[in-house]
Amino acid sequence: MKIKENISLKDFNSFGIEAIAKFFTIISSTEQAQEISESLIIEKNNSLVMGGGSNILFTRNFDGLVIKNEISGIELTNETDDFVFIKCGAGVIWHELVLFCIERNYCGIENLALIPGCVGASPIQNIGAYGVEVKDVIHAVEAVPFFDSKIISFSNNDCHFGYRESVFKNKYKNQFIITSVTYKLKKNPVFNISYGAIPQELERMGVKDLTIKGIALAVINIRNSKLPNPKIIGNAGSFFKNPEISIAQYEELKIKFPSIVGYPTDKSNVKIAAGWLIEQSGWKGFREGDVGCHEKQALVLVNFGKATGADIYKLSERIIESVFQQFQIRLEREVNIY
Ligand code: EPU
Repeated sequence: MKIKENISLKDFNSFGIEAIAKFFTIISSTEQAQEISESLIIEKNNSLVMGGGSNILFTRNFDGLVIKNEISGIELTNETDDFVFIKCGAGVIWHELVLFCIERNYCGIENLALIPGCVGASPIQNIGAYGVEVKDVIHAVEAVPFFDSKIISFSNNDCHFGYRESVFKNKYKNQFIITSVTYKLKKNPVFNISYGAIPQELERMGVKDLTIKGIALAVINIRNSKLPNPKIIGNAGSFFKNPEISIAQYEELKIKFPSIVGYPTDKSNVKIAAGWLIEQSGWKGFREGDVGCHEKQALVLVNFGKATGADIYKLSERIIESVFQQFQIRLEREVNIY
């Protein structure tokens, strides 16, 4: 395991932002995660573990150690009549895991096809799309704490999952190297096509018999139709979370803005489509220099080429401010800022 100095992170973050890591290393096994965790360099520096770099915005150079997680491997560790348990290295590309499961008819993550990033980020973020959140299929997470080499196992409950939230984003932020995630997937498919765009797309595709593959393909088509490919235009998916407001506030807003898009989350709250709020505030398709707000999905901020992290951050401030002025709702960023 080599520690390099002054390494550009441009190719390691999906925004394509230039930032220099003072130290940089790649780990490709649990043993290497243990080795780096115990080492002096981690004690002396801020450390940041990166997977696919698809949910991060660098606003400055990183004055510490970046650990790029490339721990690989997908294995079936247990099987019952109804479930399979798939243990996956944290550095595996998420969509490769989805393809592995689709091929074998393991059900549960097909709606999460094509989400950028690596397996290790899936519990941190509780990634979600098209009516499914990964928390519903995470069985266990293994991680090595900084400054120690003991492998700790977290059950689903230990992870304290919430909407795009977990203990790894809060209490344990930047304190662990996640080494593997074990998913509990169904052998007998239970399809989730509750999300409006999926049935529409399946119909357009002419699918009659529902399969896991068919759903994944529908999701891939929907994503490709409105989300920019980070390899072509730098971005980190949704930049903001969908905010939750009280039913009372929602009812009030609905009088003024009858087309507001909201989904009840429980008896007292409604989740509002942040994309709608941003679009209504006039930002959709906005471009200034090389920063912009995507023309097909206003929740996605983009780098057209030479934008800096600070430029993108400034645009996000302007959007938060203008949405607040118009709707009295303060958007929160989903992307991690450094
Ligand atoms: N909308 C607009 N204008 C826009 C975008 C959206 O009016 O520019 C409205 C539309 O009415 C649309 C509704 O918002 O029907 C919902 O839009 P969409 O289906 O695109 O989903 P979203 O709520 O904007 C969330 C996730 C996405 C995920 C999609 C699909 C968050 C922050 N984002 O977006 O996740 O792919 O649902 O499930 O929860 C990500 O986290 O990076 C991400 C892309």
